Amino acid sequence: MHSSNGAISMKFMSLSLAAVAAAALVAGCAGAERSRNLGDPRVSGATLAQQVCSNCHGLSGNSVSPNFPNLAAQTQPYLAAQLAAFRNPGRSDPAGYQYMWGLSRHLTDEQIEGLAAHFSSQKPVPRPAEGDASRLPSGKAIFEGGIEDKGVPACNT
Ligand code: HEC
Repeated sequence: MHSSNGAISMKFMSLSLAAVAAAALVAGCAGAERSRNLGDPRVSGATLAQQVCSNCHGLSGNSVSPNFPNLAAQTQPYLAAQLAAFRNPGRSDPAGYQYMWGLSRHLTDEQIEGLAAHFSSQKPVPRPAEGDASRLPSGKAIFEGGIEDKGVPACNT
């Protein structure tokens, strides 16, 4: 009968829609899994930036934790050089060793260029200075001139 046929085809349709949705979900997950694979040279630097690096350095390269450096708007040559140094591995300070060596081990030159391009083109989010504002001038003096009697070099060198 017309009405029951209609009901059946409606049911069939919603079942196949569910199947399509499930397939899309599975494909989506597999895609996300692939796009997080640091060992796959086909994944672009921009994708890795969003899928992997963002966990620590923030989606826009503005880190939410002081443990992770901001990458936003650092220059492309600087970022590329640091990534190459972690990969070599030449940059061996403890945090670099602990976090970045493994992450950069399989990056290709092309991925490094893509990652550096991505983060260098992000906008840095200005943040208010923390602590006692009256100490800013002495901090500035140390940044620019160091502390001579203690052998502390100027930060900006
Ligand atoms: C699990 C956290 C974590 C993830 C994920 C991560 N990083 Fe890092 N990254 C760090 C830490 C910690 C440092 C600071 C290392 C140090 O002090 O040498 C760092 C340092 C860096 C630096 C040097 C910054 C500077 O100012 O010299 C670059 C560039 C960098 N990461 C890029 C990346 C890229 C690109 C990815 C993704 C492929 C990534 N990181 C993923 C934790 C992480």
